[in-house]
Amino acid sequence: MFSSKIAGIGMYVPNNVVTNQDLTKYMDTSDEWIQERTGIKERRYAHRTEETTTTMAVEASKIAIERAGITPQDIDFIVFATLSPDYYFPGCGVLVQRAMKMKEIGALDIRNQCSGFVYALSVADQFIKTGMYKNILVIGSEKHSFGLDFSTRGRNVSVIFGDGAGAVVLQPSSDDQSAILSTHLHSDGESAEILAMYNPGTHANHWTKEPLANFDEAPIGQMFMSHNMIDNAQNFPFMDGPSVFKKAVVKFPEVIVEALQANGYQPSDISVLIPHQANLRIAQFVQQKLGLRDDQVFNNIHKYGNTTAASVPIALCEAWEAGKIKKGDLVCLAAFGSGFTWASCLMKW
Ligand code: ACO
Repeated sequence: MFSSKIAGIGMYVPNNVVTNQDLTKYMDTSDEWIQERTGIKERRYAHRTEETTTTMAVEASKIAIERAGITPQDIDFIVFATLSPDYYFPGCGVLVQRAMKMKEIGALDIRNQCSGFVYALSVADQFIKTGMYKNILVIGSEKHSFGLDFSTRGRNVSVIFGDGAGAVVLQPSSDDQSAILSTHLHSDGESAEILAMYNPGTHANHWTKEPLANFDEAPIGQMFMSHNMIDNAQNFPFMDGPSVFKKAVVKFPEVIVEALQANGYQPSDISVLIPHQANLRIAQFVQQKLGLRDDQVFNNIHKYGNTTAASVPIALCEAWEAGKIKKGDLVCLAAFGSGFTWASCLMKW
């Protein structure tokens, strides 16, 4: 069996910086509230028409591929994680394949929201281990700004999210110094509706047992997204923030400890923990619970907000570019999000 390693990493964030103060133009909020609750100071928003989830992914991928010392034609599989795809279908993987003029390789899209990138990495790791592929492009990219409720009604969600992309090239490892040691994936669908975007979808309120007004009044064939849903702002993400917080602070440390124990390590052995940038308060809680020093945890949510599937590869890329991750370092990635799903990956860089 082969081990896999990250051979190249890249990130892309749009130029457009949106500060907390900028958001007060649209909704009743404040820099103080946002910073105190989330640690976010600013985020990036993609150009409204010239940038998409896929175009940002392509920019991040170009850098990752170049740093891996290969060309797009060498990529033999794509795994793309996003919750904000260019199209409802087909997925973004095939759009990257087309945009980067790759061969007729397989392209897989992953819909695991905040833990999407770690899930994607785990899938790619299995393909490398079996010897099936040699150069897998793993991407996390999001264009949230296109579909958030910027009125005061949606402020608990919209202030949190930002746009951006991160990508890595996974290859078989040639030495024991650099390798993914293990990945750990979990889910609990009991609270699926606590952090969710219900529409467009085929659910017809089956799970929530809410009144059927949206669907009864929609003409046949137009129940996926009705006028009524839009009129009632039901086309935006919903989040019960406090419930997410409570679950996240339990599952984050759990899945990190699981990864450490599986490989015979302690929290003190971690060189750098890259937590999904959900909320600085969650990351601080996790740090405290595991007894990690400040230099063992990398956060950049203050600059980019929560970029969901892109947050782990963006943070990993920035940490590496800043010289905080060196060859042989023990790096732990961990994420928790909608589903709920959560995951970790322990690697020797
Ligand atoms: N600006 C000003 N006031 C706001 C805002 C805002 N942007 N958003 C909500 N409020 C108000 C609410 O209306 C409420 O007012 P009220 O008391 O008059 O009713 C008050 O602030 C408190 O609302 P809560 O939702 O209870 O706020 P809380 O203190 O829980 O903070 C937050 C909200 C930051 C979302 C918090 O619950 C949290 O961090 N949850 C974790 C969820 C998370 O991190 N999600 C990220 C995405 S999911 C993921 O990546 C895992």
